[in-house]
Amino acid sequence: MITAVIYSESGGTYKTTMTANIAVALERMGQNTLVLDLDPQEGNLTSLFDVGKHRSDPDADNLVKHILDMPDGDFQDLIESTAEGVDIIPSHDMLSDFTSNLEQKISYETGMQNMNREEYPRFELLYDLLWNTHQLNEEYDAILIDPNARAEDLLYNAIFALRTLIAPVKPAGKGNLSLEGLEELVGNMGTQLDIEIGLSCVIPAGVGQTNAHQQYQQQFENTEAFATPVTIGNRESLMDAMWEARGSAFRVIEERWKTFERDDKMVSESGQRRIRDREIATLRKLYELARFIATHTFGTDIDPVLELDIRDHGNRVINLNTDEKTEARTV
Ligand SMILES: Nc1ncnc2c1ncn2[C@@H]1O[C@H](COP(=O)(O)OP(=O)(O)OP(=O)(O)O)[C@@H](O)[C@H]1O
Ligand SMILES: [Mg+2]
Repeated sequence: MITAVIYSESGGTYKTTMTANIAVALERMGQNTLVLDLDPQEGNLTSLFDVGKHRSDPDADNLVKHILDMPDGDFQDLIESTAEGVDIIPSHDMLSDFTSNLEQKISYETGMQNMNREEYPRFELLYDLLWNTHQLNEEYDAILIDPNARAEDLLYNAIFALRTLIAPVKPAGKGNLSLEGLEELVGNMGTQLDIEIGLSCVIPAGVGQTNAHQQYQQQFENTEAFATPVTIGNRESLMDAMWEARGSAFRVIEERWKTFERDDKMVSESGQRRIRDREIATLRKLYELARFIATHTFGTDIDPVLELDIRDHGNRVINLNTDEKTEARTV
């Protein structure tokens, strides 16, 4: 089974974009995929996929209630489906108060059982919920989490439950984002949680044509420390359109979503986007990335054929096994 947390130390490194695109790519490869949105902030996976109608209703059942073992309904009812086939457990405002709710539970339960607070398995709750209580491994082939890196309790629960990290990185001002830092961090988390954590790969994204950016990309591709299966270029227009298409970059291209100015107003419409080779190449890279994660990290067989059914433009078929990489040249 494929299980991974899309992790980054810093904010705005395209985690949510990456989670959506990897999830949809895996689904298209034949993997039944579920994503968990643990980020309560605006601009999260839940708003991207346009789900989670009850995310601000404190009375509504939500994932936090289930993690804390105080459910208000059936776990299956938390799961929503998206237009692209990926299932999602949406975010809820209660995720922001996770730690204080958890502390209350720990106080109560350790008091009842005359147990030391430090002994309470506070990072194992999500693991129990997903694998022991609900055996999601029987239902899904892949589970991805878009965490909230600033909330340690939730992040550690996510990592404890899924064990593998995928790390998108973005060129920083100085170019070099500490590579050893990441390895050290993974090691530290492993020690603290007393588990083995794997790093599937690092994905440089938002890489432009400047010298600094190209050098930065080289650094990543040359390191032995971890795998860098693909680099995603600066694709602001394509990725931003995901928020209009309410779905992945695959959907943006297939439905041809575009944002443009009309009568002094910005509007977004489908059926408008031009087909650009470099954007098709980006979809190929996203597919390549999902294949790397599935086969290289998890030893899962997948369908290597990406079929794009582009509105008014017919079909585009890319077979990762046989087709030349010509299109993927432009970064
Ligand atoms: N390859 C890319 N090139 C340029 N812009 C991109 C790329 N991928 C995503 N973006 C844009 O960058 C913005 C931030 O992306 P995203 O929301 O995925 O980041 P994040 O890491 O989830 O942020 P946060 O830390 O706030 O959760 C979005 O507007 C998105 O469309
Ligand atoms: Mg995000």
